[in-house]
Amino acid sequence: MFNKSTFLDSIWHKNIGHTPIWLMRQAGRYLPEYREVRNKAGSFLKLCKNPDLATEVTMQPLHRFDLDAAILFSDILVVPEAMGMKLDFIENEGPKFDTQISTTKDIDNLNIEEINHKLEYVFQTIKNLKATLPSNIPLIGFSGSPFTLLCYMLEGGASKNYLTVKHWLYTKPELTHKLLTKITIAVVDYLNGQIKSGVNAIMLFDSWGGILTDDLYTKFSLNYMNDIISRLQLEYNGHVIPSIIFTKGGGIWLDKIDTIGADVIGLDWTINIKDARKIIRSTALQGNLDPVLLASGNINAIKNEAKRILDNYRQINNSISGHIFNLGHGILPMTNPDHVKFLIDFVHEYSSN
Ligand code: CP3
Repeated sequence: MFNKSTFLDSIWHKNIGHTPIWLMRQAGRYLPEYREVRNKAGSFLKLCKNPDLATEVTMQPLHRFDLDAAILFSDILVVPEAMGMKLDFIENEGPKFDTQISTTKDIDNLNIEEINHKLEYVFQTIKNLKATLPSNIPLIGFSGSPFTLLCYMLEGGASKNYLTVKHWLYTKPELTHKLLTKITIAVVDYLNGQIKSGVNAIMLFDSWGGILTDDLYTKFSLNYMNDIISRLQLEYNGHVIPSIIFTKGGGIWLDKIDTIGADVIGLDWTINIKDARKIIRSTALQGNLDPVLLASGNINAIKNEAKRILDNYRQINNSISGHIFNLGHGILPMTNPDHVKFLIDFVHEYSSN
């Protein structure tokens, strides 16, 4: 049975004693104990594929800090890898596929039938975590949005200008839709598999939707996220599983994003949460501290900024509920763990008054 969770209560606008907080990439390289386990595993991908070690790493930030939620340790790119693309993570360079998708035949060759069989190790990690986590700490499962996965699959890795992606969007829209449709089917199966394995919330990371024009964002990113949310079985053991949508750079499209019907909308750091609440009248909000401040600022600057966000939210919302504190993007590797602890404790303490 699941005990009262501040994270879930805030999503459903119930009374809460403090603003809940978790941080994107809360398990990662800024923690020395993470680097140790990753080295023991041999590589980042081997770590993701080892349920015992992935469980251990998910729990590391929860042992150190008073976090209100855990996020499954994995990566969005395990989905294209399970579809047959060979993946490597190169130190200081990021992810690299050995080839990229460039033809219709490449799309046809992607195997989505066995996706959940290939990703069984993720479901095993979720089951381990559900047996390990205290009953008031929910587990967040996730996937990349179809568009963000498409970016990596077409570019073969990280990209500066997304030349190949934009060439496809502007000159081969039908083929792009064919690939996005295939990815969407895989993501729906994968997230439904995560829900069946026990996650308490799911999040879609649309890290690159913000590179698009308004029109292309709707057609190639938003519509597919909408499709996913409408096709998920968002219930487990009689509980509704909330969905979170986060488009980095999506502040200008919040009204459109809210039409999808997700239960939480993620904010990066560029929009004032007060203005976001004027556009999104009731859906819960998640964010929106600048991760670069957490990596570069001192305790005073971090405190002032966290205070500003909490004050802005409370001024317009009249209650602290409906907000989950987070960063506007993932924690950077050079972040001082003491500053992370300070932020979490400060958010709890300040919001409870
Ligand atoms: O948040 C968590 O603690 C859960 C784990 C998680 C990781 N990646 C672990 C990871 C989650 C939720 C992700 C999501 C992810 N992965 C996204 C969406 C969010 C975002 O950051 O925009 C994206 C775009 C990826 C793809 C990816 N994975 C990139 C571009 C990189 C390299 C850049 C980087 O930050 O290192 C990764 C590697 C990665 N994913 C690491 C971790 C802990 C670092 C790997 C290492 O240990 O060397």
